[in-house]
Amino acid sequence: MAKVKLIETTDDQNLYEQVADRIRSLIAEGTLQPGDRLPSVRKLREQWSVSISTVLEAYRLLEDRGFIQARPQSGYYVRPFPLTVPAEPTPSTPPRQPHSVDTSLAFRVSTTCHDPKVIKLGSAIPSGKILPLAALNRLMGQVLRSQPMLAHAYDVPPGCEPLRHEVARRLLSAGCSVTPDQIVTTNGTFEAVYLSLKAVTQPGDTVAVESPTYYGLLEALEILHLKALELPTHPRDGISLEHLEAALSHRQIAACVLVSNFSNPLGSCMDDLKKKHLVDLITRYQIPLIEDDVYGELHFEGTRPKALKAFDREGMVLYCASYSKVLSPGMRVGWALPGRYQAKVEQLKWVINQTTAIAPQLTVAAFLASGGYDRHLRQLRQAYQTQTARITQAICEYFPPDTKVTRPNGGQVLWVELTAGFDSVALFEEALTQHHISIAPGTIFSASGSYRNCMRLNCGYPWTAEIDRAMQTLGYLIKRQIN
Ligand SMILES: Cc1ncc(COP(=O)(O)O)c(C=O)c1O
Repeated sequence: MAKVKLIETTDDQNLYEQVADRIRSLIAEGTLQPGDRLPSVRKLREQWSVSISTVLEAYRLLEDRGFIQARPQSGYYVRPFPLTVPAEPTPSTPPRQPHSVDTSLAFRVSTTCHDPKVIKLGSAIPSGKILPLAALNRLMGQVLRSQPMLAHAYDVPPGCEPLRHEVARRLLSAGCSVTPDQIVTTNGTFEAVYLSLKAVTQPGDTVAVESPTYYGLLEALEILHLKALELPTHPRDGISLEHLEAALSHRQIAACVLVSNFSNPLGSCMDDLKKKHLVDLITRYQIPLIEDDVYGELHFEGTRPKALKAFDREGMVLYCASYSKVLSPGMRVGWALPGRYQAKVEQLKWVINQTTAIAPQLTVAAFLASGGYDRHLRQLRQAYQTQTARITQAICEYFPPDTKVTRPNGGQVLWVELTAGFDSVALFEEALTQHHISIAPGTIFSASGSYRNCMRLNCGYPWTAEIDRAMQTLGYLIKRQIN
């Protein structure tokens, strides 16, 4: 970077802000490209004749605003898009009373998203183009040829041993040391959560959830005749422990269900200290916690965040996850680690559908054992991160300027908040029926019908001109609706 002498500081702008602005211009002009490493703090101090603390302040400001990111032991890097960063939604403040659930619209959102004509910005679906489908198909063939009897046999819970062995091995990176016999295989995360809820609640009970929360979870609550108590939730680090403690101390809830890492739809992720406090809290009150960690391996930077289960010493956490977002949604390979509720979960699994099909479980186990999984995950995280950035950039370009967007550090969805009065359900209907574009309207993420002015967008499909046009169309429809 050329040696630059900065202008003198003015009353209304500090020197570090000028440094930050100058770097922002270099990014906007393309001199510094997404992924480029910024000069070290020492080098910039020399080149721009400013102090180390000024450079550090400037880098922190740019990081806070989402233009750059720090990589441990490596320095600061330009984030892959967006070049303008929209404001973030504020923490939610849902109603304090439990609500029964009606999810008819959520079902429609899920089913319409499977129409091949529809542009899939609604459901959190990964594109087949970024999944290792050829390798999985080849392995499935090998499984069927090498174990023809086993692949077609009946099985019993806890399910296929080679898969449970691989899952136990991979759970070490989430901070969990478990043995294969503590794992029960399921038909995806959804079934794991459903069985866990059924194991720890009775019809009529209330369950604490994030707000907004994954609508599939609300669907499970509805079927099980459970009520949802929505907890205030921060878009960066999840539920308010204060409000959870109040609900626990008033004996209001029978269980708590959370997406611990890169939640859906907010993308929030608790730090380890908060995770530990949370597990200590529910353990103190002896209330089970169902942890949905379907996005845990999809961090954009650094290392995989720990699971809540990693802090569980008394078997109070029922951990649920799957390979739906990272390998294949259609194979329906998931699992539960139900702690002290394992016998009940196994019995329910047996009664409801006996076991998960063996061939997909063996196929996923073979893929995990083959050694290519980590490489695949690196590419996949990059794809999700880039697409999340592209969609954010498109929101900046095409949506009204006061639109707020989350800044997840992992996962595959964005939560978008528009001005009060905007109707995301009307947008859903119009975009789908007139333009073949699916979105997920905000109301389906809340038992109390909140978030009508919000929507969730899927970032699981690589960027194309078609998605660009769809984002432009959504922007046009939104502006027309609110003007
Ligand atoms: C938070 C969350 N849990 C569970 C699921 C469903 O996972 P699976 O397909 O493994 O049942 C999804 C899918 O969107 C999700 O976002």
